[in-house]
Amino acid sequence: MAAAYKAGGGPRFTVRPFRAGDTPEARRIFSEGLLDLPWPAFRRALQSPAAPCLLLATGAAVYGAGWPLAWAALPVAALLALLYLACRLIYAGYVKQQLEGDMADIEGIYMGRPGSGFWVVEEEGGDGGLRGVVAAQKAEGQPGCCQLLRLSVDRRCRGLGLGCRLTRRVLEFARDSGYRECVLYTSTVQQPAIRLYLAQGFQVTRDDEPMPGLALLSWVTNIYVCELRLDFVIPTKGPQ
Ligand SMILES: CC(C)(COP(=O)(O)OP(=O)(O)OC[C@H]1O[C@@H](n2cnc3c(N)ncnc32)[C@H](O)[C@@H]1OP(=O)(O)O)[C@@H](O)C(=O)NCCC(=O)NCCS
Repeated sequence: MAAAYKAGGGPRFTVRPFRAGDTPEARRIFSEGLLDLPWPAFRRALQSPAAPCLLLATGAAVYGAGWPLAWAALPVAALLALLYLACRLIYAGYVKQQLEGDMADIEGIYMGRPGSGFWVVEEEGGDGGLRGVVAAQKAEGQPGCCQLLRLSVDRRCRGLGLGCRLTRRVLEFARDSGYRECVLYTSTVQQPAIRLYLAQGFQVTRDDEPMPGLALLSWVTNIYVCELRLDFVIPTKGPQ
């Protein structure tokens, strides 16, 4: 799909502040972006040490108990299905929580509040649908720190630089608002997002924090919370 967008010179996109009528599209793009993640999460879990060991141990235990090999495959298949379901539940649960939280009142939470903002990408001459979203707010309990959140780009328009443009918009806003640094939280599954943030100057400051309240699931699926930070303070030259 992105190839179709790139062909023929491609459309032009505008990053602009959120308006009241954008709510349904903003919620759609945010949800779809995160609901794309269970498959990459499942693949990552299968490459982790924990899940394959668990699967092998189950298969071996059932086979060792005298069951035929074909029967031993059944609990392994059931565990695989459970693992995928767990990956799906992690992201679906998160989406539900946010849709009922800040994404239920974007205008009230982000617009008109000092230090906060919400931006969308619109395609010029498009169907009126949005192509990307991002938000910024004061990071809780971290004075002088802006939090970037809710970055998501419509899957038809990825790889066109929209994620970078939205991230840069937040960084520009954060600097203009007098913040000293910017923080964001993502998951270790979101490698395209992490690459994008690193390219914008962020540094990974933590990548081993289990998901809140889900330490065992984090270990089995190998999904951890990743914190990235960008310091705006330009270091002054030390004595020569
Ligand atoms: C992460 C996400 C927002 C990135 O959005 P995007 O618009 O595809 O990002 P960009 O196009 O700006 O950059 C992504 C890649 O495309 C490349 N790119 C940028 N402009 C390009 C262009 N014109 N042509 C080809 N590639 C381009 C970038 O170099 C980057 O490459 P990399 O992956 O090798 O680093 C998007 O993948 C997404 O919505 N993911 C799901 C939700 C999610 O994970 N959100 C992050 C929450 S923390």
